[in-house]
Formats: sequence, C-alpha cells, structure tokens
Amino acid sequence: MNYNVFPSTLSDSEIRVPGDKSISHRALIFGAIADGVSSFTGFLSSDDCLATLRAFQSMGLVVDHDNTNLKVYGLGLNGLKGSSIPYDLANSGTAVRLLTGLLAAQNFDSVLLGDESLSIRPMNRVILPLCLMGAKIKSQNGRLPLKIKGNQNLSDINYDMPLASAQVKSSIILAALYSNKQTIITECGITRDHSERMLISMSGPIEVKENKVIIDTSKPLKPIEMKIPGDFSSASFLIAAYLINKNKASLILRDIGINPTRIGFLSIVKLMGANIELKNIGSFGNEPTADIHVQSSKLVGINIYDPNLISLAIDEFPIIFILAAYAQGVTKITGIDELRFKESDRIKSMVIGMKSLGVSIKDTDQGVVIESSEFQGGIVDSFGDHRIAMSFVIAAIAANKEITVKNIENIDTSFPGFKDLMEQIGVNLSLSIIAQ
Ligand code: S3P
Repeated sequence: MNYNVFPSTLSDSEIRVPGDKSISHRALIFGAIADGVSSFTGFLSSDDCLATLRAFQSMGLVVDHDNTNLKVYGLGLNGLKGSSIPYDLANSGTAVRLLTGLLAAQNFDSVLLGDESLSIRPMNRVILPLCLMGAKIKSQNGRLPLKIKGNQNLSDINYDMPLASAQVKSSIILAALYSNKQTIITECGITRDHSERMLISMSGPIEVKENKVIIDTSKPLKPIEMKIPGDFSSASFLIAAYLINKNKASLILRDIGINPTRIGFLSIVKLMGANIELKNIGSFGNEPTADIHVQSSKLVGINIYDPNLISLAIDEFPIIFILAAYAQGVTKITGIDELRFKESDRIKSMVIGMKSLGVSIKDTDQGVVIESSEFQGGIVDSFGDHRIAMSFVIAAIAANKEITVKNIENIDTSFPGFKDLMEQIGVNLSLSIIAQ
C-alpha cells in the first residue's frame, strides 16, 4: 500500500501521540516476571508490541488488554512456561533482543523468528555477551532464527559494551536478573534507560552509577501501576512537520516522554534554529514528561558528530535528514553507521529516496552531506521501514508536488493512527493500493 501525499497547509493543533514503544515493550516484559498484577495505561497497541504480547501469551502469561489499557498478571521470575511453537516477533528488534536475554535464563527451550527485515538484522551483539554468561544460543550466522536452550545456571558478567545499544544492555540486564552473582555492564555511550527506570520502580536489584549498570543477585520484582507517556520518537515527526510548514501554524503535543536519554533530536533541531519550548514538565512514574510547543522555524544546516548526541537521537535520523534538506546551507552528519542495522539500512534508504526527489545528498567516507534543496514530486520506497515511510510523508508537506510513499504498512509497527493524525493537522494524503 502507498500514501499519496500532497503539499499541505497545516492548522494550529493540539494533539497526543500514541504511547512510547520502548516503554510498552518493557511494561509487558518486566510486568510478566513481576510478582503480581501490574497495570498500565497509554500502552502502545502497535504491531511490534502486539508481537511481544502474543509471545508472552503463549508462555502462559494472562493479560487484560483493551487498546491502551494493559493489565499484566505477572508470574514471577520463574513462572513462564515454554511453548513448542516458535515465537514470531515480526519486525521488532527490541522484542527479539530483549527476549533472547530473558529466555536464555529459563528452564525451557525457545525458538525466535521474525519477518524478512528482522531476519537479516545482526543478533551476535546479544548472543556474544549472553554466551559469556553461559547461555546456549544457536543462530543462522548471527541472524534469526535463534534456538535458545534454557539454562537456569547463568553466571554473572563484567561486560564493557563494544557498541551503544539499549537493546543489548537490556538483554544482558534481563539475563542477569536470574544470576546469583553481581553483573556489571559498562556503557561506551549513553543509551535509553527505560529498563533501568522500570526495574528501579519495581524495587529490582539494580543500581546505576555513571556509565555502569549494576545488577545484584536475583530478587523478586514488585508489580507497578504506570501511565506510559507519548512516544517522543513519534512526536518528532509531528515536530518536524510544524518546523517546515510554510504557513506559521503552531503545535502543542501533550504528555510526551522527555527522558533525557531519548531527546537528542530536540538538541539537534534547536542547534538548527528550531523554535520549540517544553512546558508542564512532570513525570509518569519514573519517566519525565512535558508538553512540547512548536512553531514553524527558519532552520540552518549544522555539523552533527558528537557520539553521545547521536545515540540520544538514534531513531530520529531519517527525519533529521529531511529537516537538513529544508534548512539553509549544508548539514554534515558523521558517526551514524548504526543506522545501517535498523529496520532497513536507513542511510541507503534515505539517500535513494531523497536523491530521487531532487535533494542534494551524498553518502561519503566522511559522513552524509545534505545541502539545502527543494523537494520535487515523485515516488519513493520506504523499503518496508516505518520511520523511512513517515519521514517522506512529512517531506511531502512542504514539497513542490505530490509525493507517493510506497510500502507504508509497517507504520503500524510504531505509530498506529498516523494517517488520522496527519489528516487532523491538515495533511492532504490518501491511501492507494495499486503498486505504482
Ligand atoms: C530500542 C533501542 C534502540 C532503538 C529501538 C528501540 C529499545 O535500538 O533504535 O528503536 O527499545 O531498547 P539500539 O539499542 O539497538 O540502538
């Protein structure tokens, strides 16, 4: 399916985006192994989170799930049951990597599968540290399917992370919750800390000291009640739409998660000249929140190279590429190779799409260089990647002519209701089913 998106005039709007994907996954995972019933509102019922939910249901977890309301009847650390049927985690890297850590420590065996995109993503980044802890995991040359042999005698690990990844860190944390010795993970860059925050609110055996996460000997987790904030990564598409819109409209986004490990995009667009303010700063559980106020702004190109800023904006680079083309001057971005291992090779997908729409963009040995350009009309492929698809929908708002974005189905992996929200703010788009 495709979206045909026409240049549009946005209206002043006040909206909410669906709940945070990373926190919703953790609500299910940590809720499942807590001792008792956890309740969440604002749960993201997206394809990715529903794949995780189904995997846990087949492990015997009972949930009451009604769209954004989720009650998880936690089974305790050792209450999950094995299934002879493989768990299909569809498009979700978070699900497969976090579950690998959890399942490596169970008293049953498991098989993990995924869709075409997930099946070519690298899994050695979790397999290697988990195997150092004694896990028994067989893969297809570091790719799915993963065959995990349960082992309730995992040992501790003192692990220096070779890459900045919250998925790897969380996978090791989950395995370490089952060990009877202390595990220490040392991060080489700042990554999202939703697992740590949720475990702290569940009185789990965890401590964070600068760039170290310390997991002490196994201890039961207390159930929690929590409101899940709006997903900052979904909000960033709306922010971008209002930054580039030509008619001075303004946007208020309510109750968005502003966890400092997630909002590198805000620092980057502010350096580019964005007019954005955070108001009503508060928190949902252990997660900070705010209303985000956005005005259309004159953006300028910048150099983005700080690894710590990059890891805090890791999911936002496709939309940052679009903003860079709308900014005056030149933007140069270095140190973003991790983007090649996401739902698609995001550098390649963006370069192909933006070039075909007349943007001056180069992928060089010294980084990606994007010059101020006008977006022409045309047809682009999202390569089945939700964030590539949404980025080109936003690009079309201020383009010269209609842009057709192909293969948009996977937008539902993170942002169900995206089309309705686009229409609500004034974007003129229609769905077409015929291949272009
Ligand atoms: C996520 C971590 C990030 C991010 C992904 C969600 C998580 O991946 O890209 O969308 O929920 O832990 P990496 O940790 O591999 O960078």
